[in-house]
Amino acid sequence: MKMGIYNLFAFYILLMKMIVSGWSYGSADGLSMYYYTMTCPFAEMIVKNTVNRALQSDPTLAAGLVRMHFHDCFIEGCDASILIDSTKDNTAEKDSPANLSLRGYEIIDAAKEQIERQCPGVVSCADIVAMAARDAVFFSGGPVYDIPTGRKDGRRSKIEDTINLPPPTLNSSELIRMFGQRGFTAQEMVALSGAHTLGIARCTSFKSRLNNVDSTLDTQFAKTLSKTCSAGDNAAQPFDSTRNTFDNDYFNALLRKTGVLFSDQTLSDSPMTRGIVMGYAMNQAMFFFNFQQAMVKMGVMDVKEGSKGEVRGSCHKIN
Ligand code: HEM
Repeated sequence: MKMGIYNLFAFYILLMKMIVSGWSYGSADGLSMYYYTMTCPFAEMIVKNTVNRALQSDPTLAAGLVRMHFHDCFIEGCDASILIDSTKDNTAEKDSPANLSLRGYEIIDAAKEQIERQCPGVVSCADIVAMAARDAVFFSGGPVYDIPTGRKDGRRSKIEDTINLPPPTLNSSELIRMFGQRGFTAQEMVALSGAHTLGIARCTSFKSRLNNVDSTLDTQFAKTLSKTCSAGDNAAQPFDSTRNTFDNDYFNALLRKTGVLFSDQTLSDSPMTRGIVMGYAMNQAMFFFNFQQAMVKMGVMDVKEGSKGEVRGSCHKIN
């Protein structure tokens, strides 16, 4: 009964928000801010509660959810292609070396299961991934923001497509070019890289930097990284000193030459991006604002609308 009143109240708030800020985001068949209001009004709340509960027992999973959304969107658009399991005829994206350390799949499954019980066949896995990433940012102390929904799930997931994920060996101009090809400015690329305020990298992602330590890497920090790697290729190194908190400490770490990945450190070493890094290091509010805008933009990359996709019954396989 208590839950019923709570739900009713949430529904009322949602309706008010709709009236105040308007309905539509894209085309009639496309994304919109309140896409599920009539068809599955509690979808957003189910995702939020599921993410909240999961992060309370393991706060490190916030990083996994944010990274999952990025890896989903950059390959085939935000269409949950990352969630598809390999079959005997097809090796899927998730089995690519670039994706083997992705985490948090069980949170998406848990949310999908609950949502399917309430409104079967309505809410796409792609939307659940996008909402979960947004909620993970919020529950880690980052900005709160709304995202449009209505993405459809894709029917293609191939390991070879993951070649389009950026490797950690890229320098600033290569990152600018790669993100530029996907429609992002240098500023948006740096803001999105700020997602590395959450989480860890495994030794295998940065050990090549240790063979030839140069002046871009703090000598003391190089020793820290070597020590991490002495425990093996899978040993974890946090990106900054607050791995479960979404803040601007990552940018300050870059200015101290204690970036973990080569692709992180290059952002503050290159004159093309250094000013942006300094701005975010000085002004967390500006980072939060630019990050949320860039995330909304990333979240609508090449989305499949209407009949271009489907709503999967199980996020693990196409219908
Ligand atoms: C700019 C280009 C980027 C490169 C080269 C890059 C590369 C990497 C690498 C190598 C790791 C460590 C993986 C491992 O060792 O297991 C990582 C982790 C991570 N990345 Fe990125 N990334 C980039 C951009 C992004 C973006 C745009 C986001 C999200 C918006 C993101 C979110 C994350 C998160 C949250 C982690 C930590 C994951 C965890 O702790 O499980 N990255 N990234």
